[in-house]
Amino acid sequence: MDAAQFSRFLDRLGPDHLSKRLYLQTLHTAVKFGARGLHVYIENFDAVAPYLKALLKISGLWGRAVRNSTNYEVVEHTVPLARLPRAFHGFRILHLSDLHIEGIVDQGQQLRAVLSTLDYDLCVFTGDFRFLTYGDYHHTLAHMAELVKAIHCPEGMIGILGNHDFLEMVPGLEALGIRMLLNESTALSRGGDTLWVVGVDDTHWYEGDDLDRALKGIPPDAPKILLAHSPELIPEAASAQIDYYLSGHSHGGQLCLPGGIPLKTGSWCARRFVKGAWESGTVKGYTSRGVGCSLLPVRLFCHPEIVIHTLQCQD
Ligand SMILES: [Fe+2]
Repeated sequence: MDAAQFSRFLDRLGPDHLSKRLYLQTLHTAVKFGARGLHVYIENFDAVAPYLKALLKISGLWGRAVRNSTNYEVVEHTVPLARLPRAFHGFRILHLSDLHIEGIVDQGQQLRAVLSTLDYDLCVFTGDFRFLTYGDYHHTLAHMAELVKAIHCPEGMIGILGNHDFLEMVPGLEALGIRMLLNESTALSRGGDTLWVVGVDDTHWYEGDDLDRALKGIPPDAPKILLAHSPELIPEAASAQIDYYLSGHSHGGQLCLPGGIPLKTGSWCARRFVKGAWESGTVKGYTSRGVGCSLLPVRLFCHPEIVIHTLQCQD
């Protein structure tokens, strides 16, 4: 990060957030522990991967699990929202989460083919662009440069960082046309109506979320969509009168038992929030199973998903 970039991040994040994130990025890289009381996070232990691969091969599941990793399910999800402005009735949001893009076995070929057939107004990325949680991210950006060629929509692309992403990736992602929200917001306008998209930094590892900062300047009763990497901010979202909460992180379990029962969710919240559509009080949300994989390009009983949310007025 050069001095000019550092200065821009300082303005956008503030000194406390910037220093904490850079410190934790170094800590994760060095010792591979998380922020919450030095918990060990399995997705940061790539040494586990060879053992998991051996286990899948011995059990005869390896080939099927790898094939599943690019067998994308396109999910059409219609969601009525009580405060949605009339002009946004029928607004379609392409939701891509947890791409872990340089880990995709066919370099994103099938993914780009599927995306090119879809029709939507806005594309959002809910974090985890990179495969590993540390190290070189230039391959990630190169793969993202190919992917965005397959994304075409009038309202463009908006993204947030996940726990696999470093702050230093932001300028590269923004150069690709992705408006990155670092505890920030952006307004969408249609026919005189406004819908806000609010994005927070990763809470799961980096505890970088600052919803108050992200909401600055937005009228409290304005309709708002929250992008947060994990579904771990539901109480905060309810307090902030968030209308729709989009997240990922859990990968839906990635390796599941028959019936899609996750062996692990990697999320500090109830299991009912870790995949698919959910409601909690006044907040509606959707947690994506994700597009990519972490540790290894494998999925069992948990296909990768590309979600299109169609917003509807509730009345
Ligand atoms: Fe992820």
